[in-house]
Amino acid sequence: MANDNKRFQAIISHCKEYGFIFPSSEIYDGLSAVYDYGQWGSELKKNIKDYWWKSMTQLHENIVGIDAAIFMHPTTWKASGHVDGFSDPMIDNKDSKKRYRVDHLIEARIAELENANNMGEAAELQEKMDALLAADDLVGLKQLIEDEDITCGVSGTSNWTDVRQFNLMFSTQLGSVTGEANEIYLRPETAQGIFVNFLNVQKTGRMKIPFGIAQIGKAFRNEIVARQFIFRMREFEQMEMQFFVRPGTEDQWYEQWKNERMQWHLSLGIPGSKYRFHDHVKLAFYAKAACDIEYDFPFGFKEVEGIHSRTNHDLSRHQEYSKKKMQYFDPEINQNYIPYVIETSIGLDRTFLMVMSEAYWEEDLSTADKQDSRVVLKLPPKLAPIKLAVLPLTKKDGLPEIARQIMDANKPHFRCFYEEKDAIGKRYRRMDALGTPFCVTVDHQTKEDNTVTIRYRDSMQQERVPIHSLKGIVDKQIS
Ligand code: GAP
Repeated sequence: MANDNKRFQAIISHCKEYGFIFPSSEIYDGLSAVYDYGQWGSELKKNIKDYWWKSMTQLHENIVGIDAAIFMHPTTWKASGHVDGFSDPMIDNKDSKKRYRVDHLIEARIAELENANNMGEAAELQEKMDALLAADDLVGLKQLIEDEDITCGVSGTSNWTDVRQFNLMFSTQLGSVTGEANEIYLRPETAQGIFVNFLNVQKTGRMKIPFGIAQIGKAFRNEIVARQFIFRMREFEQMEMQFFVRPGTEDQWYEQWKNERMQWHLSLGIPGSKYRFHDHVKLAFYAKAACDIEYDFPFGFKEVEGIHSRTNHDLSRHQEYSKKKMQYFDPEINQNYIPYVIETSIGLDRTFLMVMSEAYWEEDLSTADKQDSRVVLKLPPKLAPIKLAVLPLTKKDGLPEIARQIMDANKPHFRCFYEEKDAIGKRYRRMDALGTPFCVTVDHQTKEDNTVTIRYRDSMQQERVPIHSLKGIVDKQIS
């Protein structure tokens, strides 16, 4: 665990040092749990988005995408249940005035037990907590904290308030008049933008059930305990898909989407041993089934994606609150019904952190006579921010001109990067740290036979190839 924490801190520093992620408004000392993506982070994030979008929409003929507004009519959130029920149980320490999410406090205790190899007790505590959360038993949760003698990390005391529910939605005012009538919310999930557009898309797209609607966009939650870098943020992005099915077929679609989503994760080149499914014990009252896909982050297995069988709850509630029919006429069985929904919901920032955690390597390259090391991001080439670096060996003898021609020939097809400063070894190391899968060096032999040296990031092997073959080599790896 200690080593993993060191690795996690190294990843955070790397993200900052190499232009992937900066604390938000850093010159004003940052804003807790809000981050900005830098020049290479935004490229990597966009590549992850594109990869998800293509695999969900382009490769599924019956899934289309939308881009709904962040602001929605406030009744949306009444209907969805977020106004009344989107909350977490919290507890405050009276001495330090610090507020904690109850499950996080108890989970920390479970981790302590596990670290002390006290697996039986840890499992028992986990079971007790799950049962109390499932029953919304706030008194029981406080009792559990007291029984376990859990203290505040700041004051060191166990002088706790009662456990209370705390709503996670951010609200603001629409227009200039303040008052409850004008209160609107920053959406806490993108899913509702899909539900309220269900019939618009179905009718204008002449979609037949089963079909899906996908969306990528920002979501906002007033997370009280914001921690673990971009794992838990107050402003983040989700990639969600709602799949509308005929009632009675939802169990089969739930299994199918569990399987498809796991295959997507494996297609990132991450081994199956780094993933696991976690079935929800506490189901929302309307849900038939729900599970998370968890990834083994440097701080342990945690949720990256949720797959939920949501029945027809959301559409029914919107029908009830809007008084607009949300029914679909199924010509195959000659019936009207409100479709059931299977949802896949993955956090873009968590996926980013997962991809980074998997890619980050510190390699010792020392030989008998020389100490050497490198930091390399072994990103899947299709996600790498830069695909090809073009490096003239020197700044003279016409080498930069040839390098520029290579740039011009390739940059319409994928992201290339030109660099002529510093020794070639230093430039390679910099590209390794950015995760660039291919570097080509233009040298004096290039002038004679139109070949360049291509260097492969992971193996560091080099070979001579004709300039005209470069596009094919890169395309083969990124398609
Ligand atoms: N529409 C369903 C929904 O929003 P969720 O489990 O609350 O379900 C889905 O969120 C995904 O969104 C999570 O699996 C996680 O990847 C991401 N997510 C949720 N809260 C987050 C936060 N505060 N920071 C970063 N990502 C978050």
